[in-house]
Amino acid sequence: EAELYAVYKGVYMPALLHPPHSLKYYEDFSFRQDDILVATYPKSGTTWMQEIAPLIMSGGDPASVDTLPNWDRVPWLEEQRSCVLNLEQRPSPRMFATHFHYNMMPPSFFEAKPKVIYVMRNPKDVFTSSFHYYGIASYLEPSTELWLNAEDKERILYISYEEMKMDLRDSVSRIAQFLEKSLDAEVIEKIADRCLFKNMKQNKMSNYSTVPREFLDQTKSEFLRKGIVGDWKNQLTVAEAEHFDAVYKDQMKDVKYKFVWD
Ligand code: PPS
Repeated sequence: EAELYAVYKGVYMPALLHPPHSLKYYEDFSFRQDDILVATYPKSGTTWMQEIAPLIMSGGDPASVDTLPNWDRVPWLEEQRSCVLNLEQRPSPRMFATHFHYNMMPPSFFEAKPKVIYVMRNPKDVFTSSFHYYGIASYLEPSTELWLNAEDKERILYISYEEMKMDLRDSVSRIAQFLEKSLDAEVIEKIADRCLFKNMKQNKMSNYSTVPREFLDQTKSEFLRKGIVGDWKNQLTVAEAEHFDAVYKDQMKDVKYKFVWD
């Protein structure tokens, strides 16, 4: 039986999604200065930003979010599918997603200096969301990340799931400003509405409903599952949450970023 995980730059990843040829493609990938990279730890709001950013860049025109599945709309760069998408031929500005760490970016990323949107989420909710996802994704088995210590912070927008949940319109407006797209208030409003959990859940191009069940069994738990802040309280006991906080405090002691999620 093939190994479930492969190691790249010291990090474990699902072997099925990242065969050697796709990691080679990733390493040789040529970033452009006007690319937009959505960087996340898995389950922190990737799919959400794959809806928000294209809508901002199209000025609110929903054509791409209605016709292209999110993995073609904002391709996951280190995933094997990227090799066949002819990304070199795509017009600027191209958009990509990555779960890789800052120090795992390919050389061209540091030369071209594209903009980055780094979405983060309360780790206890990431844990909870992952717990459910590990139960439905056949390519995963339970197993880390640091954009927060990056030196070139001026081209990175740091935004949390909790901020987007608290005020989506304001978040869309901040992201648009960062992407240098000036949009009318009503367009911002329209984008924020499209990106509401309940509306994205209806979008077949965004809710993963076209993925075969043997790969992702959504009869057990949907991909767009609950979409709320604080679901960890339904998952962890008080003792587990305290243990999590203690481990987190120790492991994250060198990270200077002040998180907005409580
Ligand atoms: S992945 O596999 O890394 O691409 O997953 P990711 O998209 O980062 O995370 C999935 C969680 O994000 C929730 N989600 C949303 N929440 C609120 N509003 C919107 N529009 C939205 N879209 C996706 C999704 O439901 C998963 O969170 P949980 O807590 O499991 O519901």
